[in-house]
Amino acid sequence: MSVKILGTGSFLPESVVTNDFLSTIMDTSDEWISSRTGIKARHLVKKETTTQMSVEAAKNALLDAGIQAAELDLIIVGTITGDDITPSTACEVQAAIGAKAAVAFDINAACSGFMFAMHSAYAYLQSGIYQNALIIGAETLSRIMDWNDRSTCVLFGDGAGAAVLGAGQGGILGFEQGSDGVKGSVLACRARANSNPLVQENPETDYVHMDGQEVYKFAVTTVPASIERVLEKAQVGTEEIKYFLLHQANIRIIQSVAKRLHAPMEKFPISLDHCGNISAASIPILLDEVNKKGMLEEGDKIVMSGFGGGLTWGTCILEW
Ligand code: UT7
Repeated sequence: MSVKILGTGSFLPESVVTNDFLSTIMDTSDEWISSRTGIKARHLVKKETTTQMSVEAAKNALLDAGIQAAELDLIIVGTITGDDITPSTACEVQAAIGAKAAVAFDINAACSGFMFAMHSAYAYLQSGIYQNALIIGAETLSRIMDWNDRSTCVLFGDGAGAAVLGAGQGGILGFEQGSDGVKGSVLACRARANSNPLVQENPETDYVHMDGQEVYKFAVTTVPASIERVLEKAQVGTEEIKYFLLHQANIRIIQSVAKRLHAPMEKFPISLDHCGNISAASIPILLDEVNKKGMLEEGDKIVMSGFGGGLTWGTCILEW
């Protein structure tokens, strides 16, 4: 059976925060942020939650796919910023949309979360265990940023994107996932302290810490190599790919990947200029933008590649 994307959806919080606004509340500038990253603005929650944004993205994707919530067998959410430790965001989405028959769980793979969710759903669908899956990448990253650390907080945004997977022609042609836990500390957000009376020393509740240059080096080496392996395995040439949808962290990373693949930047759609980096939500939001702009036709081949905390990465080639 071929596993295909049947529909996409996304949701961004109402509030748009520009670089110029950030420069009024911290020591930064539009010039620094734009030239180093390509980011101009990001959406940040005022009232919206990770679950609410996931639900809106999910409803859009179901509508686009022409699938009822009751027909879903599986819901997987990639997130590192669920509203609650338990229940999972996926279970909260299941309840909100009335997907009574679905199995629901979250995946923590940071910026690769949507790709990991997609690969997991693909395995379930391909094996015939389930027929219709809803996958979501959703983040409220503004909650885990240190708003006194200008080197991280200006980079990230909030939002959610979703896709419905099911049987169809073409579909997923190849996949790769990878992890390198040894380098995990270069992008980390430590968990809450343990108040168990037996525990003497407690790390303090933390915000995101990133060694930007190490993550940058990891991205510009790992992503193109992963894409090349996936293309080679699927026996598809780079020139056959209509679009490369990369995790939206930094325009310079995307330019470097394009150069390494000898592919023009026109093949790399961008949402980071108005969204910033939304971790697991970056790729599905970009996919939804590309889909809703009518940029994809049946039979087009696209590559999606995510990378980030863990460290983790995931790449997929599919026929639309
Ligand atoms: O989704 C997870 C994946 N994450 C990524 O892919 C991030 C990858 N890394 C990057 O995108 C880049 O490393 C950054 C955009 C995070 C940083 O760019 P950089 O060119 O590596 O800058 P830097 O960290 O070397 O900082 C250069 C200077 C420093 O000042 P000094 O020490 O040279 O005086 C920083 O203090 O820029 C300063 N700086 C800022 N200045 C104005 C750091 N943040 C800011 C800021 N505004 N927001």
